[in-house]
Amino acid sequence: MARSKEMVVLYPSPGMGHLVSMVELGRLFLQRGLAVTIVTVDPPYNTGSTASFIARASAANPGIAFHRLPAVELPPNPSSHHHEALAFDLLRRSNSNLLSFLRSLSPAPSALVLDFFCLFALDVAVPLHLPCFLFFTSGSSVLAMFLHLPSLDAACAPRSFRDLAGTPLSIPGVPPLPADHMCLPMLDRDDDAYRGFVYLADRIPDVKGIFVNTFRELEPRALEAVAAGLCVTDGRSTPPVYPIGPLITERKTDGGGECLAWLDAVPNASVVFLCFGSIGLFEAEQLREIATGLDRSGHRFLWVVRSPPSHDPSKRFEAPPEPDLGALLPEGFLERTRARGLVVKGWAPQSEVLRHAAVGGFVTHCGWNSVLEAVVAGVPMLAWPLYAEQWMNKVFLVEEMQAAAAVEGYAGLVTAEEIEMKVRWLMESEGGRRLRDRAADMKERAAAAVGEGGSSRAALQELVAQLKRGEENGE
Ligand SMILES: *[C@@H]1O[C@H](CO)[C@@H](O)[C@H](O)[C@H]1NC(C)=O
Repeated sequence: MARSKEMVVLYPSPGMGHLVSMVELGRLFLQRGLAVTIVTVDPPYNTGSTASFIARASAANPGIAFHRLPAVELPPNPSSHHHEALAFDLLRRSNSNLLSFLRSLSPAPSALVLDFFCLFALDVAVPLHLPCFLFFTSGSSVLAMFLHLPSLDAACAPRSFRDLAGTPLSIPGVPPLPADHMCLPMLDRDDDAYRGFVYLADRIPDVKGIFVNTFRELEPRALEAVAAGLCVTDGRSTPPVYPIGPLITERKTDGGGECLAWLDAVPNASVVFLCFGSIGLFEAEQLREIATGLDRSGHRFLWVVRSPPSHDPSKRFEAPPEPDLGALLPEGFLERTRARGLVVKGWAPQSEVLRHAAVGGFVTHCGWNSVLEAVVAGVPMLAWPLYAEQWMNKVFLVEEMQAAAAVEGYAGLVTAEEIEMKVRWLMESEGGRRLRDRAADMKERAAAAVGEGGSSRAALQELVAQLKRGEENGE
């Protein structure tokens, strides 16, 4: 008699970037013969349109079961102003709902795959004898940092990373990291978000395996250091690491036809694409500098513009309204650049835009999914990091992966002169050409990694085999 399929429960954090790649992971597992359930919690803050994303993902993937945990009560006045602290609170408080749900499943699942933010759920899984795995949705350089974080925390005490400013932190497998380039919500030791991250980082060695959304050829040094156990220093061992990426959404999205039609009509590799993630916002002054820089560069551009952030604390975690381009951008800008520029409000089909032959450069906030989409498309990047772990990604992209050049001034105001200069450098100079060649090379390596006989394909096969054995291994 055929055994029923092993069922794997995936538990993503509510952040859009995390959710998107977890759904992709679910699709891969499904294709390889596992049954997949994705458990979600509703975000208490703006992370992009996750509810509509889940609805679409659920309709598009009838083979995956989606289950939404009930809402939990959160304290009305969070002490941290970082949304990550809210997420930690939400996920910690969702543990009992998760437990009830896992208990209700029959037959029992054979493994639980957790987002990094969701490692609180280890406390639920252990009493159920359910093996837990981590799906790390950023790169292995950032993973190296988190594995090393308990040591860094002890070494830097009582000072915060913010106080250590330009001091380079030493982390095995990655270039020296200026302490103020740590994840934004981790700069202050006294913040709830910082304490949450240190707690979670300390739990990573408790999982049975780590899947990372990267590929060996993109971050060889970091992966080797992690796999050799160099990042965890308190005598604990490092779980096996499986680089299975790049895992990105390549399906066509609805809408965005205007962007693609516009790109169809211009020469290959002639457009600079500017897009800053699902929640990246700029002040009006910064938007005007970008406009002026693009205007003076003389190059074609496709620019996704959002409204500036609200300064009303009660609206801090809400999505901004649609931008009024006429009021936000410099007088006459849209008319002057009409022949060579397209400004779109709020959203563009980023992955499709990046894969369009007309795009020759990408100004990015360095969110990891965006980085991988650019790598897969072979588009050279200008790194303009904003929030979360993006300042770290910028360091690794520029210093280690040689996949990007930095837009200087990102700690404050990036001037029109800098934008003009970097765009010209990327599109016209010998250095820009070298970056383009490197991007073309990485594109081939990314395709090879997930292709027949590739490193990521092999890692995925190995971990699926381990998941199918999950029950016998879980003690
Ligand atoms: C532009 O790119 C497309 C897709 O890669 C290619 O088929 C076409 O030959 C290119 N056109 C020119 C003029 O190079």
